[in-house]
Amino acid sequence: MCGIVGAIAERNVVPILVEGLRRLEYRGYDSAGLAVVNGADGLKRVRTPGKVAALDALLEDEPVQGGLGIAHTRWATHGVPNEANAHPHICRDQVAVVHNGIIENYAEIRAEQERLGYEFASDTDTEVIATRIHFHLEQGAGLVEAVRKTTGELEGAYAIGVVDTREPDRIVGARMGPPLLVGLGVGEHFLTSDVAALIPVTQRFLVLEDGDIAELERDRVTVYDRSGEVVEREESLSELSADAVERGQYRHYMQKEIFEQPEAIANTLEGRIHGSRVLEAAFGPDAKAIFNRVQSVQIVACGTSFHAGLVARNWFEGLAGIPCNVEVASEFRYRHPVPRADALVVAISQSGETADTLAAVRGAREIGFGPVLSIVNAPESSLVRESDLVLMTRAGPEIGVASTKAFTTQLTALLLLVVALGRRRALSSESEHRIVEQLRSLPGVCERVLALDEHVHSLAGRFADKHHALFLGRGVQYPVAMEGALKLKEISYIHAEAYPAGELKHGPLALVDADMPVVAVAPNDALLEKLKSNLEEVRARGGELYVFADQNAGVRPSPSVHVLEVPPMGEHITPIVYTIPLQLLAYYAAVLKGTDIDQPRNLAKSVTVE
Ligand code: F6R
Repeated sequence: MCGIVGAIAERNVVPILVEGLRRLEYRGYDSAGLAVVNGADGLKRVRTPGKVAALDALLEDEPVQGGLGIAHTRWATHGVPNEANAHPHICRDQVAVVHNGIIENYAEIRAEQERLGYEFASDTDTEVIATRIHFHLEQGAGLVEAVRKTTGELEGAYAIGVVDTREPDRIVGARMGPPLLVGLGVGEHFLTSDVAALIPVTQRFLVLEDGDIAELERDRVTVYDRSGEVVEREESLSELSADAVERGQYRHYMQKEIFEQPEAIANTLEGRIHGSRVLEAAFGPDAKAIFNRVQSVQIVACGTSFHAGLVARNWFEGLAGIPCNVEVASEFRYRHPVPRADALVVAISQSGETADTLAAVRGAREIGFGPVLSIVNAPESSLVRESDLVLMTRAGPEIGVASTKAFTTQLTALLLLVVALGRRRALSSESEHRIVEQLRSLPGVCERVLALDEHVHSLAGRFADKHHALFLGRGVQYPVAMEGALKLKEISYIHAEAYPAGELKHGPLALVDADMPVVAVAPNDALLEKLKSNLEEVRARGGELYVFADQNAGVRPSPSVHVLEVPPMGEHITPIVYTIPLQLLAYYAAVLKGTDIDQPRNLAKSVTVE
């Protein structure tokens, strides 16, 4: 959800800013821009609607340079994605601001600023920040003080980077909500919303906390907390390597990330299982005491991560005998749920920065739910810092906007949690052994399913001219079908919906005809025969079926029934493995439709606004 990069150095920072934006583009890509302060030339701004490549092309035509600058790639919230609304926003050629987040009281501030004679050039909420900082500077404040006064007047969420031509030797950053980090160099320092942006220049970071203001000069960084006191924030070293965010031989990041799943899952499991047991220590030193108190589980998450939660509910209740509720975080946070102090709140998030998930976790704490365990992929994220227990998914950076390896590693991590909690309840040690054995087999089974790539590719050809599709599953496969439908709609723009197969005859069957492909997930499980009856209902109505079925499921191909035979596997890992052909189907349908797969329209990777 928008990306910020800032740099102050002895050298020209423009290449650092542009490379940083390129690495952050997955977060938002409606428009891109930068502003540099360059001695006598003052403030130079270049911005454009569209992607970082368009900004790069502009910079080729009109090069700018400077030893201090801020840059931004935008995911529009206030105002359409055009040049006027692109960041940085400038006030009176003096102050430039980049901003992630949403200022809720911007209309009031804007009215006040207009009364004071400020003119506005955009529809954004960000421009009020620039004018307000300018106002405080005019009243005699220095830049840090002007930022403090301004942020004190803002309601909402922000991470900002600010430069002022009258103080050409500093960048000021401030955070309340969306992430903001300071990158540490030697004689040069950086600001960013995501470590990935700065990996080519530094791996050393300070994570700012809510209410912090950071002052970056070439030779020093000073962080002030919300009360204005100078504070030390602990330095951390990112484990990201520069090539972890490269696309390599693959055509798209999404394709690369689909094929990385066996390795990602192996990493998620590493050091967390031993012999035939799940190691409780994997959840942290406090896990034992917390797990001993847990009587139920409340999962909160959004989108794909929510689907992972729905799969896990089946496991928590069916395997472990633990009552489990799962809710979309944006609903949970406003619903006034009845708190249960003995419920473990499980937050699932790839980015660890999803605003609704963070708010749901904070809300759950406030009203009296039990401790929070997070399943997260981004180690430096807010959710990690706010949780009592954390299980990192270790999928590596996920750049494609459509979540793939994050989902399958979340499921892997959740199954570990189900075992750790379940052994205190209904899960026998034989079941634990069986699950651990199946988990061990997962990377290999995923490899075998990825080898079906060409077959899925050929099936996808039949989707490219379709406008709608239905996805069916039963039991634990229903959320898998939901995930398949979400993947298809978000990257190919084909409208897709998932139903529990038993619901077909209660309405959606009316939609079935030869133009409505129906995709079904059919492992060899207890619900297979029921599912087959549902598929017959589709066939009898002239529907075209695409069944991803276990080799031994006995689903026979016919002109209207296309079967992808999936190798047999342990029953507990089927939701993880059956997701993979659905990802490939969506991917190839989108390739054939020629959509922008890694950056689908209107979406952004990390949703740090409500
Ligand atoms: C879909 C997708 C989104 C995210 C959702 C939550 O492919 O990626 O639905 O799953 O925005 O994001 P995280 O997991 O970062 O909290």
